[in-house]
Amino acid sequence: MTQSSAELYNQMHARSLSDPAGFWGEAAEEISWIKRWDTVLDDSKAPFYRWFKGGVMNTAYNCIDRHVEAGRGDQPAIIYDSPVTGTVETITYREFRDQVALFAGAMKRLGVEKGDRVILYMPMIPQAVVAMLACARLGAVHSVVFGGFAPHELATRLNDAKPRLIVSASCGIEPNRIVKYKPMLDAAIEQAEHKPERCIVYQRPQETAELVAGRDVDWNDALKGAVPADCVPVEATDPLYILYTSGTTGQPKGVIRDNGGHAVALKWTMKHIYNVKPGEVYWAASDVGWVVGHSYIVYAPLLNGNTTIVFEGKPVGTPDPGTFWRTIERHKVTTLFTAPTAFRAIKREDPNGEWIGKFDLTGFRALFLAGERSDPDTLQWAEEHLKVPVIDHWWQTETGWAISGNPLGVHLFPIKYGSATRPMAGWDVRVLAPDLSEMPRGDIGAICVKLPLPPGTLPSLWGADERFLKSYLTDYPGYYQTGDAGFIDDDGYVYIMSRTDDIINVAGHRLSTGAMEEVLSSHKDVAECAVIGVADDLKGQVPLGFVVLKMGVNRPDAEIVKEVVQLVRDQIGPVADFKRAVVVERLPKTRSGKILRGTMQKIADCQDYKMPATIDDPAILPEIADALKTLGYAKSHEGAAA
Ligand code: COA
Ligand code: AMP
Repeated sequence: MTQSSAELYNQMHARSLSDPAGFWGEAAEEISWIKRWDTVLDDSKAPFYRWFKGGVMNTAYNCIDRHVEAGRGDQPAIIYDSPVTGTVETITYREFRDQVALFAGAMKRLGVEKGDRVILYMPMIPQAVVAMLACARLGAVHSVVFGGFAPHELATRLNDAKPRLIVSASCGIEPNRIVKYKPMLDAAIEQAEHKPERCIVYQRPQETAELVAGRDVDWNDALKGAVPADCVPVEATDPLYILYTSGTTGQPKGVIRDNGGHAVALKWTMKHIYNVKPGEVYWAASDVGWVVGHSYIVYAPLLNGNTTIVFEGKPVGTPDPGTFWRTIERHKVTTLFTAPTAFRAIKREDPNGEWIGKFDLTGFRALFLAGERSDPDTLQWAEEHLKVPVIDHWWQTETGWAISGNPLGVHLFPIKYGSATRPMAGWDVRVLAPDLSEMPRGDIGAICVKLPLPPGTLPSLWGADERFLKSYLTDYPGYYQTGDAGFIDDDGYVYIMSRTDDIINVAGHRLSTGAMEEVLSSHKDVAECAVIGVADDLKGQVPLGFVVLKMGVNRPDAEIVKEVVQLVRDQIGPVADFKRAVVVERLPKTRSGKILRGTMQKIADCQDYKMPATIDDPAILPEIADALKTLGYAKSHEGAAA
């Protein structure tokens, strides 16, 4: 790459900030509109910004039909590769269009209309993508719930999104077990105040679910006699989907994504960030239940006319640590996007990269990592063995695409380990002190983004404008508060160091320790509790619970620990990975009663910490260290602050 491509990035980034309407207006030419917008950026109700106001389009049309019309009908749209079932299946753009139109027709017959919500509780099978696009085709709003969440979490989302319909499947497949979805779905509907009118259930050969007469419909029966539905024109500002993500409480935040801005931004990213051309094979090894799955398994590659891989398996054990390389070779993948944790899992089983050497990776061009901090060891290991650029990029469910990264399609900046490189177009990233002043280069502060955010980012939270303002726009007026802390160095590289709230990242999955504490507190013997995220070699972080028992409780600690662990699994789900807890006499607090979770976490991870000036009783810290040692943490802690 030459100096001039770095200049190109500088010019592009500067223009995206000085002339957002001009910049994104040009990018919007890549999308097919039924009616062009009246205003690129409507700031009349700031800080509620709206992109492409007055524009009318359909996201599913842009993802599928327009490619068929342009001659891509015979190109694979989806390759379903499922090592857990031994299946490889290809669906062309034409077949995909027909399947989506027919399923949309089936939903329409069941009463689904533009603006209705549809919850999808699906494993990684092509039907999940068909259902998402069918919603988009009708202008209905989908909300996908990850299969690793428990019925209670699903019920919370039912109450908030109030869907007319649920689309689910009989089961998901984990390497060690069949996960029966239908009993969880039934339990969630039972618990929820809002009941959907109908459920469509895809019966997989591995498990046949029992259907509730009058409410549930077999996927294939729903299709019988259905009339393919046309694309429904929607406003650019209409919601395409709601994706719930962890907040600081047990009530998840319903992040809204619009249609127009989302399509424009994601299409732009495929060229400029990922450097992928239409027709190439792009693979995001994630799950449709997460934002990475929404943006880069489904919408961005389809908007760009790529072939996308729906992979049902794990990076290791399905069947071996070569499964990623086998998939890349088999389908001629050019670009892979996954979470660092997947690479840590592979590296652990194949430290010398021998499995990589067994496959022909010609044509594989780049690896993108996101979802959690990339540790330099893993990144270097991937670089050394794959011999392609390994790019860390930083983003959030709220943003829908990368805030900062290395824009491979414009200029590949030298990689600095630990940094997610430079802000992408539209992102005016600042590191702020609490008084809103900018931190000097290299100093850690709250990472904020000057408003307006670029297209594709959340316009608000579902039914919760006030919460949107309070969560993101209040503490730093004029800025979006990312909730991440970090710094920018002298070269303008962005470093993400930690969260400033109680969100943790377990195997690339975003979880709230506050939500886990709510569950622990509901146990009859628990007086108070704290949950912290501690460092983990494989998963980045794992949750760890401390419980203080009510006076007079006289049962073995081990029994209570077992019960609280089960409670979190039942209430939040296996994805929380809450497996470690300990009973303690008391918790360390400030004099005003705030639990010192940060200090506890540092003790657990054997990091230096300062004795908090406001601590009420310093003698509690050694007790915490002793308790942690019983779980294998705080090994080098001597019970004193550094
Ligand atoms: N449905 C039901 N259960 C699920 C599930 C799903 N879709 N996904 C995960 N689970 C369960 C797992 O079976 C496991 O249950 P267990 O406690 O009974 O073993 C639990 O949830 C925790 O899952 P996970 O954190 O994925 O751990 P793992 O040991 O099964 O796998 C990794 C570890 C690193 C291999 C795996 O997390 C991985 O591939 N991560 C990639 C990250 C990713 O895709 N992130 C998305 C953002 S890019
Ligand atoms: P999610 O909403 O699940 O995508 O999680 C978003 C959070 O994950 C961010 O706020 C960060 O804390 C973390 N995160 C995502 N990508 C990165 C990255 N590349 N580096 C560091 N942290 C990241």
